[in-house]
Amino acid sequence: MLGGGKMKGGEAVGSGSGSISPLVSFVLGAAMATVCIVFVMSASPGRRLADISAWSNSNATAEDAPLLPLQEVTADSRSQLAAASNVTVAAPVPAPVQLQLAKSNFGVPSPPPASPYGDLEEVLQRAATKEKTVIMTQINAAWTKPGSLLDLFFESFRMGEGGVARLLDHLVIVTMDPAAYEGCQAVHRHCYFLRTTGVDYRSEKMFMSKDYLEMMWGRNKFQMTILELGYNFLFTDVDVMWFRDPFRHISMGADIAISSDVFIGDPYSLGNFPNGGFLFVRSSNKTIEFYRSWQQGRWRFFGKHEQDVFNLIKHEQVERLQLGVQFLDTTYISGFCQLSKDLNKICTLHANCCVGLGAKMHDLRGVLDVWRNYTAAPPEDRRAGKFHWKLPGICIH
Ligand SMILES: *[C@@H]1O[C@H](CO)[C@@H](O)[C@H](O)[C@H]1NC(C)=O
Ligand SMILES: *[C@@H]1O[C@H](CO)[C@@H](O)[C@H](O)[C@H]1NC(C)=O
Ligand SMILES: *[C@@H]1O[C@H](CO)[C@@H](O)[C@H](O)[C@H]1NC(C)=O
Ligand SMILES: *[C@@H]1O[C@H](CO)[C@@H](O)[C@H](O)[C@H]1NC(C)=O
Repeated sequence: MLGGGKMKGGEAVGSGSGSISPLVSFVLGAAMATVCIVFVMSASPGRRLADISAWSNSNATAEDAPLLPLQEVTADSRSQLAAASNVTVAAPVPAPVQLQLAKSNFGVPSPPPASPYGDLEEVLQRAATKEKTVIMTQINAAWTKPGSLLDLFFESFRMGEGGVARLLDHLVIVTMDPAAYEGCQAVHRHCYFLRTTGVDYRSEKMFMSKDYLEMMWGRNKFQMTILELGYNFLFTDVDVMWFRDPFRHISMGADIAISSDVFIGDPYSLGNFPNGGFLFVRSSNKTIEFYRSWQQGRWRFFGKHEQDVFNLIKHEQVERLQLGVQFLDTTYISGFCQLSKDLNKICTLHANCCVGLGAKMHDLRGVLDVWRNYTAAPPEDRRAGKFHWKLPGICIH
């Protein structure tokens, strides 16, 4: 349905009205709180963006994580304490001996990397699919604690369906402080330490504070670095639960596929409300150029965060670069902002529109409880739609 032709030109991704799209969607029941969307995207396996052929030797268990100080997060939905102020100074934490041993099947331990990114390229190479796609998340120490968000994140993969657990082999966890790096290494194979200057990532960041902006823009810059190294990435916040493989809902023609806080029915309308907490970008000159403009937008629209600037530049840049931007349907790639209530369809669920680590964890635990029952139930009960999220929670409703 969404062939390459659809993605060509401003026509496909142009005006917010998007009335020329053949992918007509029907907005039902204006009185309903939720906009119901008719599925417009092909979900057939043949259209999968990334042919993830996993080599399944992952031994990651979140239970072994060391106890680390809990830290409350005060920020918006996308606010993983994430980004770095300056990726050019990134350097690896010295790798412990057993990590080198674990890599012994790749030959003798390599000499200290000379690249300005530290061992980033090596980590990407190890984690990437054969199409050079990685899944990426960013964490700080608070999230590596047992029972923390990282635990729930891993748990969702393990309870997920259709082999989604195998995707963990392609997950790179970017850590922002040494404690998080160690915590990551205890539970996962692909950890990267992003050394940064200027911001103390261990401390609490108030939404829209100077440090917060620095972090979000740093995360953006780091993503650009990944593209420049030739890797496609699917960035996921760590408060996104992965139940099924989301790649099947990303169009082949999309240069950028971004999740939606609110999905208005047309995946190619720039009128959708994007959320950078779940974002696929295909590496190309066009997307690198888009990120360059995005970074420049920081100074053009001084004081705005990167998601606001995305909204401010999207029309001109998408037109200029002929970029295919797909907004992901919340029926499949969902979040608390616009909750998908169909457990038979949902792929991922983001604790967006939810402030505070405690609230997110509370609601996500509830979500996983329901999902556990759902996956254990006989197919006919599942098909009959007998399972529903427990509503309302603190944020989920
Ligand atoms: C995982 O690691 C534990 C110890 O770290 C080991 O006992 C176990 O056999 C490993 N499992 C797999 C599947 O490699
Ligand atoms: C980032 O790195 C560049 C070059 O290494 C340096 O000139 C610049 O001041 C750094 N910026 C910050 C915010 O640290
Ligand atoms: C970017 O453009 C240059 C020259 O136009 C080309 O050689 C290069 O392969 C392109 N890179 C990518 C990733 O498309
Ligand atoms: C899961 O199923 C058990 C047994 O039927 C039930 O007691 C429990 O309340 C269910 N939990 C949720 C969250 O639905």
